Amino acid sequence: MRFSNIATAAALSLVSASPAPAVDTSPIRAEISYEQPPEPWTVMGPPAAGTEFFNLKVNSSDAAVTNQWVSLKGKNYVLGGTTQSAAAKFFAIKYNETGTYSLLNSDDTRQVVLQGANTTLLYFTDVTSPTGGSIPAGQAWEWSIFTTDANKLWLNDGSTAQLRTWAAMKQTDNSYRVALFDGVGPIGGTPVPIGISIVKTT
Ligand SMILES: *[C@@H]1O[C@H](CO)[C@@H](O)[C@H](O)[C@H]1NC(C)=O
Ligand SMILES: *[C@@H]1O[C@H](CO)[C@@H](O)[C@H](O)[C@H]1NC(C)=O
Ligand SMILES: *[C@@H]1O[C@H](CO)[C@@H](O)[C@H](O)[C@H]1NC(C)=O
Repeated sequence: MRFSNIATAAALSLVSASPAPAVDTSPIRAEISYEQPPEPWTVMGPPAAGTEFFNLKVNSSDAAVTNQWVSLKGKNYVLGGTTQSAAAKFFAIKYNETGTYSLLNSDDTRQVVLQGANTTLLYFTDVTSPTGGSIPAGQAWEWSIFTTDANKLWLNDGSTAQLRTWAAMKQTDNSYRVALFDGVGPIGGTPVPIGISIVKTT
């Protein structure tokens, strides 16, 4: 797996702080051609009045995970059961240059970052005001790449990968973390393919 320098939009970064190769050959990064946005990411206050909040609901052919809501456990987004009121509450801010969205937790400056040891498996993680500079060495992160068409959560980070899917990853304590799986692997564990729906908070 290749780790790349931070050459493109921080808001679309799938990058690492490890020593940068001279040439970026990442298949994902290579497709990204957006303008560099301001960095660090603007620190925001609480969401503006009138902001619409939503929860994220999972569907799957696997009965162990379907119909569960995404909730926050520490810094990790997990499947938190079938009670909507216990679900994490999100709002979205459009990033006009790319037409994609930042996904924020309702509290304040906390964004959903897809985070992993490499681009094979990226976990939904809660990060406060992520910037390119805050990415630990050797990790792959991306954020502000979400799309919400037809109330289905997906992403557009410029990748042309065909087999990617949201996935539930069973943990040793039997909880499931929410992740993006590249569909190819290999990874330790078995990803359960899931869809993620955007449902207005009631
Ligand atoms: C989730 O539901 C959508 C329809 O809303 C369907 O297209 C998709 O295949 C489902 N995903 C899984 C993993 O079952
Ligand atoms: C994004 O576009 C919308 C609609 O044109 C506009 O209201 C908003 O101010 C823009 N946001 C930024 C950060 O430029
Ligand atoms: C990528 O990370 C996964 C864990 O998310 C690990 O199982 C896998 O071995 C890693 N792949 C490479 C090529 O390092």
